[in-house]
Amino acid sequence: MNPFSDDLLRSLGHSYGTPLWVYDAATIRQRIADLKSFDTIRFAQKANSNTHLLRLMREQGVVVDAVSRGEIERALAAGYTAAPNAQGASGIVFTADLLDAATLESVVQHQVPVNAGSVDMLHQLGARSPGHKVWLRINPGFGHGHSNKTNTGGEHSKHGIWHTDLGAALAAVQQHGLQLVGLHMHIGSGVDYSHLQQVCAAMVDLVKRAGVPLEAISAGGGLSIPYRDGEARIDTQHYFSLWDAARREVASHLGHPVQLELEPGRYLVAESGVLLTEVRASKDVGHNHFVMVDAGFSDLMRPSMYGAYHGMSLLAADGQPRAIRQSVVAGPLCESGDVFTQGEGGVVLSRALPQAQVGDLLVIHDAGAYGASMSSNYNSRPLIAEVLVDGEQHRLIRRRQTVAELLALEAV
Ligand code: LLP
Repeated sequence: MNPFSDDLLRSLGHSYGTPLWVYDAATIRQRIADLKSFDTIRFAQKANSNTHLLRLMREQGVVVDAVSRGEIERALAAGYTAAPNAQGASGIVFTADLLDAATLESVVQHQVPVNAGSVDMLHQLGARSPGHKVWLRINPGFGHGHSNKTNTGGEHSKHGIWHTDLGAALAAVQQHGLQLVGLHMHIGSGVDYSHLQQVCAAMVDLVKRAGVPLEAISAGGGLSIPYRDGEARIDTQHYFSLWDAARREVASHLGHPVQLELEPGRYLVAESGVLLTEVRASKDVGHNHFVMVDAGFSDLMRPSMYGAYHGMSLLAADGQPRAIRQSVVAGPLCESGDVFTQGEGGVVLSRALPQAQVGDLLVIHDAGAYGASMSSNYNSRPLIAEVLVDGEQHRLIRRRQTVAELLALEAV
């Protein structure tokens, strides 16, 4: 999906230069509204941690997840605190599988509840901060994802406390007088809907096995979005109803009300964003026609990392219709894998696109999640700018990094 008009993108490209991230606030608000049935929506900010988007989330009553000290600082900068909201949900929760020393100090200083993915974390936190609020992230023994790299369950995943260690985790909670908030499960990203019943059943089973009172359960994130034309959109009401049934069963088993959290990243922001690039060269290489744009995998890593598909459209500089041509879209990096049209395993694919000419703009769709947040400085390319469109208004929410800023880190 591309929420923007061609004219707007042309004018933003002209004002701010390319490559450029452009996000649409209305799309984010709509995606939040889709999930309003859940008691708590906790945004997994790893998908996009720009503080301006976090502020937008906060205005909509969304709380946040943080997975590093940096993400805790981002949440604080956006006005979040760890204090509970009206539903009793903490504004920030820290989720990880280990606690480094500096992060341990940060969660203690800001009293951020910790969603623990290992028993060692519970001992380290308990020794430093007895009585701290904790969640237990459980690996139920299976997982799913849009790629092996985004499957976070089962015995090949480093994530979560293995389900048979639930007893050891509860013992650590008790030993240190930690305050158990709830159980959490996130079995992967881009999860096929058909697995949902299995996940809900695993959560009910875990709660019964734990046999302790809980304020809340978390369904994790993982909701997919339609990256390809014609792909069905997830039925969020059905998604909620399955989780709500699990919550009711858990509450009736425990004999007290239980809050239901959801922790989406991609679902809230992916469709709001595009990566705007300029075509700078084209060439025929054997049977392949390469269209070379000024963004690379240092900006949007998903195709190179997962063989992920992103829709594309071309804004012809002359406004004229173009014939369709099978094209491979590639970036400027000095690496063969710097191709936006590829399949898993790095197979270069060509795609039917309007024939591109130098000076055209290429719009890469559904890039609002795991786009900017996964960018790097590879090939010493500065991070690119981000713009937020809100109705008739638009504003720069991150300026372009400079090469001088990169070099400054090395002035030691
Ligand atoms: N909760 C936890 C504990 C997670 O690890 C993640 C994602 C989420 C929530 C949010 O998942 P989502 O709703 O966005 O699927 N870079 C990959 C995705 C990696 C996700 C890592 N954890 C991609 O671009 O597809």
